[in-house]
Amino acid sequence: MYGLNRVFSTSQVTQLAKMLDALLEGEIEDPDLLECFFLEALYFSLGASLLEDGRIKFDESVKRIASLPTADTEEVWAKPGELPGQLPTLYEFHFDSKRNQWIPWSKLVPEYVHDHQRKFIDILVHTVDTTRTTWILERMVKIKQPVIFVGESGTSKTAATQNFLRHLSEDTNIVLMVSFSSRTTSMDIQRNLEANVEKRTRDTYGPPMGKYLLVFMDDMNMPKVDEYGTQQPIALLKLLLEKGYLYDRGKELNCKNIRDLGFIAAMGKAGGGRNEVDPRFLSLFSTFNVPFPSEESLHLIYFSILKGHTADFHESIVAVSGLLTSCTLTLYKNIVQDLPPTPSKFHYIFNLRDLSRVFNGLVLTNPQRFQTVAQMVRVWRNECLRVFHDRLINKTDKQLVQDHIGNLVLEHFEEDEEVVMRDPILFGDFRMALHEEETRIYEDIQDYEAAKALFQEILEEYNEINTRMNLVLFDDALEHLTRVHRIIRMDHGHALLVGVGGSGKQLLARLAAFTAGYEVFEILLSRGYSENSFREDLKSLYMKLGLENKTVMFLFTDAHVAEEGFLELINNMLTSGTPRPVASGAHQADPHHSPWGWVWLPSGPALTSWWASTALGGRWKYFLTQHCWVPRRETPGCLH
Ligand SMILES: Nc1ncnc2c1ncn2[C@@H]1O[C@H](COP(=O)(O)OP(=O)(O)O)[C@@H](O)[C@H]1O
Ligand SMILES: [Mg+2]
Repeated sequence: MYGLNRVFSTSQVTQLAKMLDALLEGEIEDPDLLECFFLEALYFSLGASLLEDGRIKFDESVKRIASLPTADTEEVWAKPGELPGQLPTLYEFHFDSKRNQWIPWSKLVPEYVHDHQRKFIDILVHTVDTTRTTWILERMVKIKQPVIFVGESGTSKTAATQNFLRHLSEDTNIVLMVSFSSRTTSMDIQRNLEANVEKRTRDTYGPPMGKYLLVFMDDMNMPKVDEYGTQQPIALLKLLLEKGYLYDRGKELNCKNIRDLGFIAAMGKAGGGRNEVDPRFLSLFSTFNVPFPSEESLHLIYFSILKGHTADFHESIVAVSGLLTSCTLTLYKNIVQDLPPTPSKFHYIFNLRDLSRVFNGLVLTNPQRFQTVAQMVRVWRNECLRVFHDRLINKTDKQLVQDHIGNLVLEHFEEDEEVVMRDPILFGDFRMALHEEETRIYEDIQDYEAAKALFQEILEEYNEINTRMNLVLFDDALEHLTRVHRIIRMDHGHALLVGVGGSGKQLLARLAAFTAGYEVFEILLSRGYSENSFREDLKSLYMKLGLENKTVMFLFTDAHVAEEGFLELINNMLTSGTPRPVASGAHQADPHHSPWGWVWLPSGPALTSWWASTALGGRWKYFLTQHCWVPRRETPGCLH
């Protein structure tokens, strides 16, 4: 049967036994009840790593072997001795031991309550998948069994796991997040672990007594395969998981036993920079395939957010939030279908993150400025253009996205078409940028004249304080400025500007940062500037962020990449919040303050995925620029 590659069948049987361990509490005498637990354990072990087709076949075989009567009356759930038949497979059901019934997972999804104060990036709308993932995590952590989730990018692996970790009791748990990249070394992992454990006896180490250290290893299959076919960090972890110890590096090679340590891992399927992980290592984990969210789940996630956000808007706007959600999903589907990634368009990768960005833009609106459906649909069009269109590298592709949006507007909002489709389309919260005391409000800037007048004033103010920049604010420059400004004003706003040298990327970025009220941080390369110098610079940046609570835009250009190693540090900063290890001691990413986002950056010939986050509670903005990939004559495009 087709499942996740290379999961040994013996390890699946072990997984079955572990799952039973997790499910069975106390003596169970009733054989029918026992069978229910056994069936559930079977689906979460032998059946857990199967993909779609395999799941259907698996379900058929198990049901045939079980040969139990089927209960399929609406809303009357099967009891022990029966199998539920309301939904196609048993994968959709959970055996609830309290109620003694098979309940569909969909009925167990906690209801979403919108909180206007919560940052967009901290929002998690529970779906069938996240509810199931959370349940698995609870069970596995309870029996201290390492667990790994495997699924495509954007299947909520990271979001759901982080949400689970956030809700763990801090009294008994310490969480360490490690995001792997192609350049993560075994030494990185070891240092990271060692920084989070303390000496207990001569050769035993562990987290402070009474606590359990839970390590979340995200994107675990990223590390590169060396010439001997080994992923070194994986080899180290295999030793640790299997034997429970590591060796000191250096001369002594002392053996260090590490106690009270648990593992959760997530990874994408092999391919696109991700490698096959040693199956012997994987066999130490319980493995679960995370399917891509169904269309219903996607709709649920984004509709819940938009409905919650627009609750105090005009009722006509509330009424279209469902329609706007389905238009976004249709647009997304069309784009994924029409614009697949190719070697020259390697970054045409659209997933849940992009959908999230569209809605992140939509929740910037407020009821005072957005009073009509036309205004709301217009800002929707802006967000879709910014997220999808600005990433594209040629006119044909851009036109295609514009046409898709145009068609959707025509189909669903015909009477507002004129307002919605009017160009230029410029949104931002910089009207009051020079008046610090005023709150910034996201709004329609209307036209180039208005944008130019605002930016001209800002530019003059900038030139009073800083080295003068001679920027001519022609229409394209205004568009880029608003785009960059919009990105960096968002939490997790990380932009990758792509364009030929001399196209003004840096100047625009600086002015956008000034407009947003951010300081700019960049490194100054000098002779002999090494990775250590880079770390020192980053330390001072962290001091500024953490102690002075400044908001900083980190400007990083391709000229700054003196050594490839810099990229690894930035990758770590983007993924976990720190360029480990910057300082010793308490430097691990704090899951409570580390929201996540994406930016793509080509590093060498291979593509690496990049993340960003806030650090040390200070508000942190990254800005990465790299010029390449866009053919000449193009003005810069934004990826974000
Ligand atoms: N249930 C959800 N509710 C809200 N946002 C979600 C949900 N699931 C995923 N997202 C958003 O989708 C994006 C991708 O999810 P992520 O967990 O990073 O995927 P993965 O780790 O599987 O690649 C993130 O921006 C996340 O915030
Ligand atoms: Mg992830």
